[in-house]
Amino acid sequence: MSKNIDWSSLGFGYIQTDYRYVCRYKDGKWDEGGIETDANITLNECACVFQYCQACFEGLKAYYTKDGRIVCFRPDLNAQRMADTCQRLEMPAFPVEKFVEAVKMVVAANADYVPPYGTGAALYLRPFMIGTNPVIGVKPATEFEFRIFVTPVGPYFRGGVKPIALTVSDFDRAAPHGTGAIKAGLNYAMSLHPVMEAHRAGYAENMYLDAATRTKVEETGGANFIFITKDGKLVTPKSDSILPSITRRSIMVVAEKYLGMEVEHREVPFTEVETFAECGLCGTAAVISPVGSINDHGREIVFPSDKEEMGPVLTRLYNTLRGIQMGEIEAPEGWVVTIQ
Ligand code: PLP
Ligand code: COI
Repeated sequence: MSKNIDWSSLGFGYIQTDYRYVCRYKDGKWDEGGIETDANITLNECACVFQYCQACFEGLKAYYTKDGRIVCFRPDLNAQRMADTCQRLEMPAFPVEKFVEAVKMVVAANADYVPPYGTGAALYLRPFMIGTNPVIGVKPATEFEFRIFVTPVGPYFRGGVKPIALTVSDFDRAAPHGTGAIKAGLNYAMSLHPVMEAHRAGYAENMYLDAATRTKVEETGGANFIFITKDGKLVTPKSDSILPSITRRSIMVVAEKYLGMEVEHREVPFTEVETFAECGLCGTAAVISPVGSINDHGREIVFPSDKEEMGPVLTRLYNTLRGIQMGEIEAPEGWVVTIQ
């Protein structure tokens, strides 16, 4: 029985659900793992996660398809990216197959919280790992906890598919050069001040430029950029210090294989941005969110087709991606994983 929730008015917030998946690592191995009911974690004050922020996370969504299945989108890529993150953070990888199994278990256990088809909402899954044992010298933990909790969510940006305004940040994107694969707690803690500064100035998010030269487009605090040129090409920034978005990688395939578009994955000079016809943000939480304008230190860059609503090419990309995810358009092999 579906829970009594007003699905279509959900924002991107935390609603505690009945079950979470938990697996613990000790003496060099992961235990069996399984579903638990306690949403709270009790840890020693000296746990590595508190002292040295040994923590990382992932994000993916589960939802109903048109034909009534509960599915999720490319969970193996989240598993692989988390394993890459763990390697960089001296954490033990959580095996890819066990990760996908855990995703299925936790969604099935919380099936009543999966928003009905057509509401626009989804069940957001937050897999994460923390170093749990006390560590006082600067070194990694030896004991870890891997968890996945879930929460029903609506759109990440208020306004949903209405264009948002960004501001160019003078702060660095938190991920250092060469660590683009990582999705770690500390990265995001370092972006909390910049994003609040952006909000206080009336903007939805920051546009980060590369830390070394401040001339190339990186990403925002929680999504990659996609741009459409005036002649209809998809351009998306390539950099070692941005997160390799699964949504962005999927959109590149959708653009090329489904819509016959030319796709360029390359460095994007900031000076080129004002030449684009459309600008969007993409990610699990953001899906595709149009950007209407970017404030560059007082100078406003306004995208011709994006001020009032999503532009035509982003709309086509959005509809095709959503169609694939919702089972209305045939998906490439392995993209849509049925849970039940
Ligand atoms: N970039 C950052 C910094 C993010 O936090 C996210 C969200 O996960 C993304 C990009 C988008 O990645 P994905 O499409 O895999 O959700
Ligand atoms: C996601 O899209 O899954 C993210 O982790 C972005 C985050 C800012 C909510």
